[in-house]
Amino acid sequence: MTRLLLAPSILTADFGRLADDVTRVEPYIDWVHLDVMDGHYVPNLTFGPSIVEAVDGATDLPLHVHLMITDPDRYAPIFVRAGADRISFHPEVVDDPARTIGIIREAGAGPGIAVHPDVSLEKAAKHVEEVDVLLMMTVRPGFGGQEFLPEAVPKIVEARSIVDSSQHRPAVEIDGGVKPSTLDEAVRAGGEIIVAGSAIFDGVDPVAAAQRLRARLDHLESEGA
Ligand code: DX5
Ligand code: ZN
Repeated sequence: MTRLLLAPSILTADFGRLADDVTRVEPYIDWVHLDVMDGHYVPNLTFGPSIVEAVDGATDLPLHVHLMITDPDRYAPIFVRAGADRISFHPEVVDDPARTIGIIREAGAGPGIAVHPDVSLEKAAKHVEEVDVLLMMTVRPGFGGQEFLPEAVPKIVEARSIVDSSQHRPAVEIDGGVKPSTLDEAVRAGGEIIVAGSAIFDGVDPVAAAQRLRARLDHLESEGA
């Protein structure tokens, strides 16, 4: 049975008490997801390596840095030095995704390919034997708190089948708009790592929200979803 993992995105957390928020939800989560945006690939800016370093200092959990930037080849090694264990990038921003994958691996992190809802899965599928994760976006990247896009679901089903017939079997991770009402659909389509940002950090009680999502994942796991 596949273990279903929870990976909160800190994008909508209160940065004034970031370390505290991460520590409080730590018992219920498996990864921390960090969304790096450069104002070019997406019309929003978030944070750089110093925040990754701060989170790395606050938790022993592995960190997944999701690069929504136009120059992953240049910045990936810097994020690895800051503490990233896994780095995903969007392949449409580079000429040679295999090279970017190599740079990430060489720097010491697990590479992942992020699949934008409007970009074909083919670009990522070519590299299924080289990456550790396919990060399937269920919102258009740029902002936390958006609605889950149901039209992205068939692509998750396709990614799951590509992964299942691969040798390397990277993880299928779902990113965007996941909350209690969309979690089941994300898992049943084939997601095994679930990112949740606003569903955890926008509410009044991140711990209760993380516990609730964890309990539902346990239930789906027991159903063999
Ligand atoms: C969107 C980011 C997501 C997002 C998740 O550009 O990659 O990780 O912040 O946040 P929610 O769960 O609020 O959609
Ligand atoms: Zn993300």
